[in-house]
Amino acid sequence: MKENISGLPQPKKVILSGMRPTGKLHLGHLVGALENWVDLQQEYQNYHLIADYHALTTNPDSRDLEENAIEMVMDWLAAGIDERISPMFRQSQVKEHTELHLIFSMLITTARLERNPTLKEQVRDLKLENIAYGHLGYPVLQAADILLYKGDVVPVGEDQLPHIEITREIARRFNAQYAPEKPVFPEPEAKLTTFARLTGLDGNRMSKSLGNTILLSDPPDVIRTKMRSAVTDPRKVRKGDPGRPDVCLVFNYHQKFNAAETPEIRAGCESGALGCVGCKMRCADRIVDALAPHRDRRGYYETRKDEVRSILADGESRAREVARQTMTEVRTAMRMG
Ligand code: TRP
Repeated sequence: MKENISGLPQPKKVILSGMRPTGKLHLGHLVGALENWVDLQQEYQNYHLIADYHALTTNPDSRDLEENAIEMVMDWLAAGIDERISPMFRQSQVKEHTELHLIFSMLITTARLERNPTLKEQVRDLKLENIAYGHLGYPVLQAADILLYKGDVVPVGEDQLPHIEITREIARRFNAQYAPEKPVFPEPEAKLTTFARLTGLDGNRMSKSLGNTILLSDPPDVIRTKMRSAVTDPRKVRKGDPGRPDVCLVFNYHQKFNAAETPEIRAGCESGALGCVGCKMRCADRIVDALAPHRDRRGYYETRKDEVRSILADGESRAREVARQTMTEVRTAMRMG
């Protein structure tokens, strides 16, 4: 624990991070999120939430949720999240999420939720009246996710910023309504994930559903095959043609995974001396190297799924304790204890 000026120990600030259980994670998750989480896990108290209820907002099929959560936890562990200090848990296993969600749902108008730009983006040409009630309200559930653990900081991508704003509004409203003297909730801050997102191998946003990702669990030969299919500068048709590294996604991967050689790669690409296939294979080799420790650690857990299940169960019981404590404060503040 840190000490403040008076010499008293000061509790660590809380980071609450959340991800839908999408199964095996890809390079974009590592670069955009996991590396940050691992870096911050000593300085802050981290909680890693698996948003399995949120997954139901867009797809009610629940059959794969548990398996997908386990696959994701294996990637979290392999990336270096330490289960002893950072609980990992499924939202659905801590009942307090649903209770706090209900209470919060009284503190926000439907008009406010309908204005949510992320929702508008998701529903596009569907009419608002045709989306599920729970989909409209999913930022309210997210607010409960964050505030149950009194999250001070929430690492998110840009699309999630409106939800953090909604969370702040709900925290303010709860405090003003029920606990004006002694606020129960902090107003959490978003921490934008910094590194520009990696582009998918086809030039689109990297996304599992588009099939354009390199998975953290991909074996080396799969990484090489996938890399071979990556799109490059369309003006560089064959070796000898000058290329433009700054429009090439493979160059962007070099910058991330092969920083030392980027000047040479740039020069080779621009002069034409380096062909795209050679360039891609050098890049694939560096990615294979960079993921080697991850692959090893993941391999360990893949043969010990029971251990992963018990890590999750332990995280869930620790999360439950914190959630229960917060709900006691909530009920006391509301005089519904
Ligand atoms: N809404 C997030 C998404 O769709 C997932 C999420 C749920 C989340 N609860 C959270 C993210 C709490 C951060 C904090 O990706």
